[in-house]
Amino acid sequence: MRVRDDGFVPKERYTSPEFLALEMDQMWSRVWQLACREEELSEVGDYVEYTIGDQSILVVKSAPDTITASYNACLHRGTRLGEGRGHFDEGTITCRFHAWCYSLDGRLTHVVDRDDFDEMPEGMCLPGVRVECWGGFVYVNLDPDAEPLLDFLAPLPSLLAPYRMEDMRLRSYLTTVLPANWKVVVDAFNEAYHVQGTHPQILPWTDDTTIEYEQLGKHSHYGRLPNARRVLRPSPRLNLADDDWDEGQILAGMVEGLGGAFLADERAVVQELQDAQLPRGEVLGRYQERRMELLRSRGFDVSGFDVEQMTSADDVYWFPNVVGPVYPGSAILFRVRPNGLDPDSAIKDTWVLEWPRPDEPWTMPEHRTFEDWRDRDWGLITNQDYANMLEVQTGMKARGFTGLRLNPRQESNVLHMHRVIDEYLNP
Ligand code: FES
Ligand SMILES: [Fe+2]
Repeated sequence: MRVRDDGFVPKERYTSPEFLALEMDQMWSRVWQLACREEELSEVGDYVEYTIGDQSILVVKSAPDTITASYNACLHRGTRLGEGRGHFDEGTITCRFHAWCYSLDGRLTHVVDRDDFDEMPEGMCLPGVRVECWGGFVYVNLDPDAEPLLDFLAPLPSLLAPYRMEDMRLRSYLTTVLPANWKVVVDAFNEAYHVQGTHPQILPWTDDTTIEYEQLGKHSHYGRLPNARRVLRPSPRLNLADDDWDEGQILAGMVEGLGGAFLADERAVVQELQDAQLPRGEVLGRYQERRMELLRSRGFDVSGFDVEQMTSADDVYWFPNVVGPVYPGSAILFRVRPNGLDPDSAIKDTWVLEWPRPDEPWTMPEHRTFEDWRDRDWGLITNQDYANMLEVQTGMKARGFTGLRLNPRQESNVLHMHRVIDEYLNP
């Protein structure tokens, strides 16, 4: 089931329960994975349950500057100690079943009728899980011998430093279940080759042909690399004559289409630039300057950016399972996990992160869950992506289909993911 040297990806990597079991044993048990945001754990005693496959991890703010993680199972008979997100009162984790008690950092502090247990050793603790933070993200790793988080993430922390993700805060948190392997979901957001087939409506304001892909350590990104969206023009696939399009309209389409990444007063700037009838070639630069001024006027530190970065998303893939565009001031991240041990189902979280305005207090948004993705309108582009998932997962089961033939350039990030997975798996 390994990826072939010529890049052919056997389909069993997406469809077989055995392959998911292998991933669980060899990969998910050894990688750093994104458990939660630091702002979800603001008070001592706050906890988040992080699940991966059939494993549940309890992540607890155990002291003002300490986050502790452990397997989420009582030492008595295994009862799960914390579910979802919540708060342990009075610095104590109490098991609901027979009321054994633990300190927030996992030490067993009280056993009811302890004298009945002749042989119980002193100093028992919940089995610990590694936890480290970067960029306001809390990561866990089930492997006690794993490399430090920053080594695992390299070179993303330096690439993303100007975005100051540690200063961002969750603005919305949505979860849904999709009928496909977790990698089908990640892959859908890790290439732009499908734009012409799946999202043709965005071609009038998206030049999808100039997107570049780059692999970075275990990770990758794509966009108009290195930094800039240099021109506003429709996709050359549309064969439009120069008279058929207008830069102001393209800018408006882009800002409208990207929705959440741009704020209401930025749309006003777009309107102003459209009305100004600027010569061709000047609209983008003017907009980038105005956007930088706007962010600065809100008290944001944009000193790490070139003006060209003001309109370019960096679409980042954090191995193994987080993908999404990062903008100056905001980011939309998708975290995708296998749904239990089912190779045909994935849990997808959507996190919108934003630099909070200095003059507005931040509060934790409600975490909303949709058991079926069809229970919500996710916006046209995402609805189109989601509608593909069942078709991909169903089609791959065909006996006449043996594996994926990836585009060597435009799907190179997807192939790279498979090769990194194989580095974790035993042959
Ligand atoms: S299972 Fe937790 S106290 Fe019995
Ligand atoms: Fe898409």
